[in-house]
Amino acid sequence: MCEIIEKKKVLSCIQPSGMLTLGNYLGALKNWVNMQEEFDCTFAVADLHAITVRQEPAKLRQQIYSTFALLLALGLDPQKSTLFIQSQVPEHSALSWVLSCNTQFGEMARMTQFKDKSAKHSDNINVGLFSYPVLMAADILLYKPNFVPVGADQKQHLEIARDIAERFNRIYGDVFTVPEAYIPKAGARVMSLQNPDKKMSKSDDNANSWVAILDDRDTIIRKFKRAVTDSGSGIYMSEDKKGISNLITIYGAITGKTTQEVEKEFEGKGYGDFKLAVGEAVADELAPIKANFDKIIADKSELERLFKDGAQRAEKVARKTYFKAMKKVGFVL
Ligand code: TRP
Repeated sequence: MCEIIEKKKVLSCIQPSGMLTLGNYLGALKNWVNMQEEFDCTFAVADLHAITVRQEPAKLRQQIYSTFALLLALGLDPQKSTLFIQSQVPEHSALSWVLSCNTQFGEMARMTQFKDKSAKHSDNINVGLFSYPVLMAADILLYKPNFVPVGADQKQHLEIARDIAERFNRIYGDVFTVPEAYIPKAGARVMSLQNPDKKMSKSDDNANSWVAILDDRDTIIRKFKRAVTDSGSGIYMSEDKKGISNLITIYGAITGKTTQEVEKEFEGKGYGDFKLAVGEAVADELAPIKANFDKIIADKSELERLFKDGAQRAEKVARKTYFKAMKKVGFVL
């Protein structure tokens, strides 16, 4: 008899943005695709999180569609993983309320992302922006994942989700799995091409500082050719060669080569050659994703069928956990 070994569960979400970048791709999304074989994965478009900053409704709607389409275009497979849109599974908001009544004001007030975002959007410091990590905890805890792949900027939020889960279990009895952060072996932290001290971000005013997953080949190569380096020479990782180091990271993440292998490959080469090679490698990797995306986004009814089906499957899991939590708290079901 062959024994069936249950796969460990993974959950992660990404906010809908019209312009996901090479940083999102190498830092997170490429790993999601790789995790599909080894784990039982659930991935969602976190559209409820997006309205913590003001959104234009028509644009938000379009970005939800395109982000979901992009997940498919990257190779996330609805046959293997559960892919859905957060707002289509109402248990997320509902559990979030129950969890928020079990979360302290002080715990939220010290979240660094809240402090940063409220400084940046000082005209709209809404309560949702404040309690955003509680909604994120609900996203996670509903699916009882063992691992949650998150970038450095979300680690504090994952810690809080763990604290909330532990506290709830202690007070009401065992309901939630306490998840671990998943730091992928090949996760890359991609920096701005114009200022390698800063993380690559689509909100950067200088469009040359970031590459969108859906940029065309010429644009990608042009941006890499313009990437800031230093006045020296030699292609190797170093604290005082942040621009070159960033390009080595990108090239390594794309090709699967180690830093040493990349350094060896470009020994004796100039910066110009190296920048072009990185640009071409990135363009080659992203081209099929863009081609897939163009096809997928053109078939709206198929896209809708897929996200509705994903939401149904997600809700089956979410509802169980939600009811269990509600019962423990004392609600009448
Ligand atoms: N807050 C995350 C971000 O902005 C997105 C997110 C929402 C998320 N819910 C999540 C990530 C649950 C991991 C797990 O990047």
